[in-house]
Amino acid sequence: MGFECEGSRVLVTGASSGIGATLAVRLASQGAIVGICARREDLLTEVLDACRAHSDASRMFVCDLADFDAVDRLAAWAIETFGGIDMLVNNAGIPKRRHVTKLEATVVEEVTRINYLSPVRLTLALLPQMLDRGAGRIVNVSSVAATLSSPGEAAYDASKSALAVFSEAMAIDLWDLGVGVLTVYPGVVDTPLFSIPGNDPLPPGIEAISADELVDGVMGALADDAIEVYVPAWFKDIVKHKANDTAGFIEGSVAYVRDLPKS
Ligand SMILES: NC(=O)c1ccc[n+]([C@@H]2O[C@H](COP(=O)([O-])OP(=O)(O)OC[C@H]3O[C@@H](n4cnc5c(N)ncnc54)[C@H](OP(=O)(O)O)[C@@H]3O)[C@@H](O)[C@H]2O)c1
Repeated sequence: MGFECEGSRVLVTGASSGIGATLAVRLASQGAIVGICARREDLLTEVLDACRAHSDASRMFVCDLADFDAVDRLAAWAIETFGGIDMLVNNAGIPKRRHVTKLEATVVEEVTRINYLSPVRLTLALLPQMLDRGAGRIVNVSSVAATLSSPGEAAYDASKSALAVFSEAMAIDLWDLGVGVLTVYPGVVDTPLFSIPGNDPLPPGIEAISADELVDGVMGALADDAIEVYVPAWFKDIVKHKANDTAGFIEGSVAYVRDLPKS
């Protein structure tokens, strides 16, 4: 059947930049009524203007998703403003490139809160109205780091893994209830994520795809009613190889890290 954009009410978190901004505008350009949220009001306003050029009923909500009360307010606002949400896209997230020997427990908690607990809370708040209608869709933006355990990013990897596993388990629980679940595993995407302070520098020579290419993959997966999508798709092959030979994968990762130029 595929996701019908025209007239759908979609909430996209983390839409002030990068993937979320690109996806929100793409959905609006295909007729969706889009609700967007993030902390940076100036950037969010620009994205809203771009959405409203296609879909005038689109609206924005400025909030910090690390604040659970704000998450609850966002859910209530979305239901009241749009009369319900047909598709939730849990996209907001923060990176954490920090070697485990330098990682503090409070940092792990912060990353887990934004990348896992907050989207789960928002999902649980918006799920009942989807179940009441017997229709809806939840899209969780995880990362290939969730399955490939990127070195130097243990806190981030684990938060994205938690989101992915929650997402898969939810897909099973909701299978016959009319609510579809899509887990998105982006590879490296060229967004402002890599210039956020408080992170180790990115290893050199990493190739990135554009946010538009990532969104092409998400839109294709929505059209196919897929339950997961890796973008680029070849990351799925690496996941399969890892499952077949985890020790070899870990040893290969160690060799890769040792070969990196020392800062
Ligand atoms: N770029 C990649 O290579 C890549 C790869 C795999 C997965 N991902 C995932 O893709 C998602 C989008 O990332 P991106 O690459 O597009 O990065 P980005 O450009 O930095 O976008 C992140 C978005 O999340 C929002 N956000 C962060 N913390 C927030 C908070 N506490 N409250 C509300 N909003 C918050 C940011 O808005 P404000 O700062 O305005 O609040 C921004 O709109 C993330 O979940 C990321 O982990 C990215």
